[in-house]
Amino acid sequence: MRDEFKRTVASEAARTAEFLLKLPELDIPENAEWKRVLEAECYALSGGGKHTRSVLAVEIYKLFSGLGEVPDFVYEAACAIEMTHTFSLIHDDMPEMDDDDLRRGRPSTHIAYGTAMGLLAGDGLAILPYEVLSRLALEGKISFETSVKLIKTLSENAGNRGMIAGQVMDLWCEEKPNEAISEDFLRKMSKLKTGRMIIASCVFGALLAGASSEKIRSAEIYAENIGLAFQIVDDILDVTSTPEELGKPIGSDNERHKPTFADILGLDGAQNEADRLSKAAYDEIMKYHGGELLAEYAIALSQRNK
Ligand code: IPE
Ligand code: IPE
Ligand code: MG
Ligand code: MG
Ligand code: MG
Repeated sequence: MRDEFKRTVASEAARTAEFLLKLPELDIPENAEWKRVLEAECYALSGGGKHTRSVLAVEIYKLFSGLGEVPDFVYEAACAIEMTHTFSLIHDDMPEMDDDDLRRGRPSTHIAYGTAMGLLAGDGLAILPYEVLSRLALEGKISFETSVKLIKTLSENAGNRGMIAGQVMDLWCEEKPNEAISEDFLRKMSKLKTGRMIIASCVFGALLAGASSEKIRSAEIYAENIGLAFQIVDDILDVTSTPEELGKPIGSDNERHKPTFADILGLDGAQNEADRLSKAAYDEIMKYHGGELLAEYAIALSQRNK
């Protein structure tokens, strides 16, 4: 199982990367004056991200559809999540936020293309997903109902009550460096800024598969657990990894005086918590015949080194 699982994750991530680069080019005339922003978007999308969110959407789709063959529209919808995620990273790295110059092993988009183009590339990638998701319905690849549900899922989880809210809480910590941050605050912030996009990914897979509300709820429970674990491990790696391994600066949180799970629980305590959450995700998805791959993925994500 272990080798098969690794092969599947690698091949689904590679397939996502192929689809991702086609999407910003939709209907763009060759000689458009504003092509520069597309170059910045494609640069940000092509930097070798792990494509965890797309892999989750695709694997949940396989589990709940019972189909091994994944239609193109599933990858296109999964790419809507990856684009939203990449927009959040472009903006997250900008000087007014985390001020990080390295992302996915290369200069961050605002370093490579300038702050104004970075801002616009982020904006473009924030909006394009809704074009892609509505087109899928207009082209008859998914129903109008599924399209609206996907749009609602993405906008709610990424927007003011989701990822954006978490990013605002994150900035709040920096603005009040002397304020003691509680574990509860950190959990809430992490569930919002990172967990919500992971929830959107898993719900996407379930909606595309036409899953029952019970299965959608299971996808959410699985995602809530790995989503929080994912940010805990991200915080740990900010202390223990290297820029070469991680493709982004380390020590960034400390430099900005951001409290993390590593500070509050200690490195071992934080890893134990990530492992506990992954095990809860494992148990939830193992309720389903064929859930082994996603169960193993949950464990691998909490043990990852990049
Ligand atoms: C980084 O996400 C930001 C967080 C939400 C922790 P990833 O670790 O998934 O980054 P990429 O997409 O693989 O570069
Ligand atoms: C990012 O959290 C969460 C986002 C919504 C982008 P971090 O700021 O910890 O992510 P990295 O470490 O820069 O990837
Ligand atoms: Mg940040
Ligand atoms: Mg950051
Ligand atoms: Mg981080």
